[in-house]
Amino acid sequence: MKTYAIRQASVSDAAVVAAHRVAMFRDMGQVPSQALASSLLSASTIALAELLREGSYVGWLAIDGRDERVVAGAGVHLKPQLPRISQDGARVVTASDALVVNVYTEPDWRRRGVARVLMRTVLEWALDRGLDRLVLHASDDGRALYASLGFLPTNEMRWSAARDGESCAEAAP
Ligand SMILES: CC(C)(COP(=O)(O)OP(=O)(O)OC[C@H]1O[C@@H](n2cnc3c(N)ncnc32)[C@H](O)[C@@H]1OP(=O)(O)O)[C@@H](O)C(=O)NCCC(=O)NCCS
Repeated sequence: MKTYAIRQASVSDAAVVAAHRVAMFRDMGQVPSQALASSLLSASTIALAELLREGSYVGWLAIDGRDERVVAGAGVHLKPQLPRISQDGARVVTASDALVVNVYTEPDWRRRGVARVLMRTVLEWALDRGLDRLVLHASDDGRALYASLGFLPTNEMRWSAARDGESCAEAAP
């Protein structure tokens, strides 16, 4: 039986988180060429190293118990936002918005509940931190998982400069 452990990501994991990010977008059909995949990988590695260093990216990784390989991950990107009323209508929130990003499980580890465990870890972290909401953009593969954990569709709309309206490379899964 395949066993794994969950640990928090550190700055030294930036490259593997970036690789998951590229693989996630590829699986979602949003990486049109190898050249763009390479550019996205290097830009994401640099960006994630910085965000992990400054604490505005918090990530968790699933590690294969046999060889210590990272086989899945999920992260939260904390992005500055304008003040808003909290979800319960009781206060003004000035803290960063928390976007769930980079949710990815390697193909041979899928449908074993790994992403569910990672997402539960994210939710526990959010509750511990006193966050009143998490935001994400669901892929087709991820939608049922998020719905089962209590995520609801929102009123977000998107304008795209691409003529066919299908360019959503900076959605935030
Ligand atoms: C989505 C993804 C992260 C799920 O990872 P996983 O480790 O296989 O997920 P789990 O085993 O924890 O599955 C949890 C639930 O999610 C749903 N689910 C998982 N994969 C699914 C798929 N391909 N299609 C539909 N529902 C799916 C199921 O409800 C599943 O529960 P079940 O197995 O009891 O039916 C994985 O398929 C993946 O990396 N896909 C490509 C990248 C991607 O789309 N990432 C999400 C971006 S928002």
